[in-house]
Amino acid sequence: MLTLTGVSKSYGDRVLFADATLQVNRGDRIGLVGPNGAGKSTLFGLILGEEPADEGRINRERDATIGYLPQESAPIGDETVVEIACAITPDFVSLMRRVKAWDAGHPVEAAHPEDLHDDVHERFHECNGYMVEAKAKQILAGLGLKPEQFDKPARELSGGQVMRAHLARLLVQEPDLLMLDEPTTHLDLESLLWFQQYLQGYPLERVEFQCILQ
Ligand SMILES: Nc1ncnc2c1ncn2[C@@H]1O[C@H](COP(=O)(O)OP(=O)(O)O)[C@@H](O)[C@H]1O
Ligand SMILES: [Mg+2]
Repeated sequence: MLTLTGVSKSYGDRVLFADATLQVNRGDRIGLVGPNGAGKSTLFGLILGEEPADEGRINRERDATIGYLPQESAPIGDETVVEIACAITPDFVSLMRRVKAWDAGHPVEAAHPEDLHDDVHERFHECNGYMVEAKAKQILAGLGLKPEQFDKPARELSGGQVMRAHLARLLVQEPDLLMLDEPTTHLDLESLLWFQQYLQGYPLERVEFQCILQ
């Protein structure tokens, strides 16, 4: 799925990698261990193409999907915890918001005149929206978030809780290759044990969430 061949990377005269080789096959579970500053996050940057390697080749299987959890989360807007966890595509959250608005009795036809109750609900149903949401909530709970936090704007929660919501999204998405940069920093023992167990069974049966939005 991923091959690094003869990769070298230095910053100034600090050599992080010299002629490094790595192969990742489907089903592999690899832990990258090293002290602070060893180059773990840089390696992710090289694989993602965010940082150029000085030498060597990095080949990713063309169709393999990658999910990446950065060490630091990007700042957030007004999304709720469950919306972050359900953000499998940008369009999905928008559709979910419209379904919720209808269900709460506040449809937003003015903003979306093309929205009809049955149409929106049918599309949500077709892309397994209810299953995605249920799965997201189950994962959020496993990662130690409380149901009363699910609908809170993420900016009201701590950085660690937001990071758990992003981690939940990746587990909902189920990419072929999960790249997690220090994912356990913000997990307590109980959610750490849940997470380890979950990864042992990863990937679960794939849920199709193809959305066709007009
Ligand atoms: N863009 C950059 N420019 C210069 N030095 C960098 C850059 N990114 C990382 N480094 C340095 O490379 C080393 C490895 O960093 P990093 O990959 O973040 O380590 P780790 O994730 O293992 O803690 C550190 O010494 C860091 O200061
Ligand atoms: Mg790092």
